[in-house]
Amino acid sequence: MPRKLIRGPQRRTHPLVWFLAIICTIIAIAVIIAGIVVFVGYIVIHPRVPFISVTNASLDLLQNDLAGLLQTQISINVRAENDNQKAHATFSDIRFALRFQGIKIAELVAGPLEVNKRSYQDLHYVVQSLSIPLNPDQVEEVDLSWKRNVISFELKGNARARWRVGPLGSVKFQNHLNCQLKFHPSNGTYINSRCSSKST
Ligand SMILES: *[C@@H]1O[C@H](CO)[C@@H](O)[C@H](O)[C@H]1NC(C)=O
Ligand SMILES: *[C@@H]1O[C@H](CO)[C@@H](O)[C@H](O)[C@H]1NC(C)=O
Repeated sequence: MPRKLIRGPQRRTHPLVWFLAIICTIIAIAVIIAGIVVFVGYIVIHPRVPFISVTNASLDLLQNDLAGLLQTQISINVRAENDNQKAHATFSDIRFALRFQGIKIAELVAGPLEVNKRSYQDLHYVVQSLSIPLNPDQVEEVDLSWKRNVISFELKGNARARWRVGPLGSVKFQNHLNCQLKFHPSNGTYINSRCSSKST
């Protein structure tokens, strides 16, 4: 029986396929270059992002009575800093909680804050808390703090920052603060420990 040999059309690469391949290559190279630009930008810009830090504090009062009530007054100086030479920064939604042994003593808040290029603004807080009820464990912790002459409070919270870039653009940052504020109860001196939203 005679068989017909059927041959398909010659398998030659269609010019459209070449065209698409070239376009894809160009897109891939563009994506890689964009990635490098973003990475280098990050390295250059990152050390200068607006940040929040505690520059100073003092323990003005610390007293606990037999009923297990703690009285304290703490002054805290929080600095909003913008090291950028070209852009003005706005800090907003500034909100930190001050705690002792898990007990919330105060909330430190502030409205929007304008910080010029290469400048900073200080927020001075005086937290007074006159009757914080302590459980027996917490009373013991206060006694231990007196003995060690070190007492520690927790400061934790966030602030948002924004650089204005040109008339419309802006770059946003989240500042996160989570630190222990330590003092000598004997004289109320702040024991300086790095307390900053800067990651490095
Ligand atoms: C920190 O605050 C205390 C008490 O307010 C003050 O005596 C001291 O000079 C301040 N230290 C700095 C470095 O600002
Ligand atoms: C406070 O007390 C601590 C520990 O006793 C001491 O190291 C520090 O120098 C004192 N600070 C002042 C300002 O007296």
